[in-house]
Amino acid sequence: MSVQVGAVRLPNPVMTASGTAGHGAELAAYFDLSALGAVVVKSVSARPWPGNPAPRLYPARAGMLNSVGLQNSGVDAWLQGDLPPLLATGARVVVSVWGRSTGDYAEVAARLAAGLEAVAASRDGSARTGAVVAVEANISCPNVEDRQRMFAHSPEAAAEAVGAVERGLQGTGLPVWAKLSPNVTDIVEVAGAVLSAGADGLTLVNTLMGMALDPLTGTPVLGGGGGGLSGPALHPVAVRAVHDCRKAFPGTAIVGVGGVSSGFDAAELLAAGADAVQVGTATFADPRAPLRVLEDLGSWCAANGVTAVSQLQRWLSAGAGR
Ligand SMILES: Cc1cc2nc3c(=O)[nH]c(=O)nc-3n(C[C@H](O)[C@H](O)[C@H](O)COP(=O)(O)O)c2cc1C
Repeated sequence: MSVQVGAVRLPNPVMTASGTAGHGAELAAYFDLSALGAVVVKSVSARPWPGNPAPRLYPARAGMLNSVGLQNSGVDAWLQGDLPPLLATGARVVVSVWGRSTGDYAEVAARLAAGLEAVAASRDGSARTGAVVAVEANISCPNVEDRQRMFAHSPEAAAEAVGAVERGLQGTGLPVWAKLSPNVTDIVEVAGAVLSAGADGLTLVNTLMGMALDPLTGTPVLGGGGGGLSGPALHPVAVRAVHDCRKAFPGTAIVGVGGVSSGFDAAELLAAGADAVQVGTATFADPRAPLRVLEDLGSWCAANGVTAVSQLQRWLSAGAGR
């Protein structure tokens, strides 16, 4: 089940998806977090951010709408309060970062780099410790310097944000995965821009923009107005994004995310060209969903004569695919 995601070796290809598995070790109450390939934490910013007003979740017909609005207590508080118990579980950790300006991205990356150095220096080596293995740059965020347009909706703004994270992390050796939005005409163009800006990999995809209304009042049901659609409805969108980016960038690390709730869904994203997958919305119905998907993927592979998950990408090496 082991996979190589760019420079990162993971024991298996299943991770949590950012924002759906807590800020730290919350899911450790349900299963051993070190059993997963990695735990991706809720996006953190340079300063605390309150997020959007309630209600924040709405069950759409084939998934879920959310407008959590990136609530978090800031990277410094996260480094002190959330990271140590998460590392104590033995998990491999991917830190997701976000900002509202290019300067914010530079700042959160620099604070993270400094904080991780302090964490490394304070380790005594006796405890069971996990490790931070990568940083995910969540660029599906409103850019205050560009009329609240999402960074990920513009190749130039996306490249600037990712470049700022890369520079802020210099010296840490941590790879940066740029998490892209499916709400664009040409995701391959945005992917090309962030890779040129120094991204080491791509996480595909964030939520689709959506809205639900009360037809009698015309009022949005979510406190933030619109929201992001995730879950089963997003799965084919993610498969397509991974497929198209894999074709365009054969050597790049790609993590697929969107509507994964079974081993079959994970296998499909891997066959589309992902090196690993993340499980998000499924966790809201079953907190053990990431572990269940991992076990199910193993059973699916065994039942289908697949002896290594990398074999699922065989059409890529054979030059097949459409
Ligand atoms: C409640 C909720 C909160 C989320 N918060 C974040 C976040 O903080 N950062 C981020 O990059 N993605 C966030 N996402 C997006 C997920 O990581 C994932 O990309 C998306 O939900 C698609 O995967 P899924 O269909 O398996 O949920 C969030 C999704 C949900 C449902």
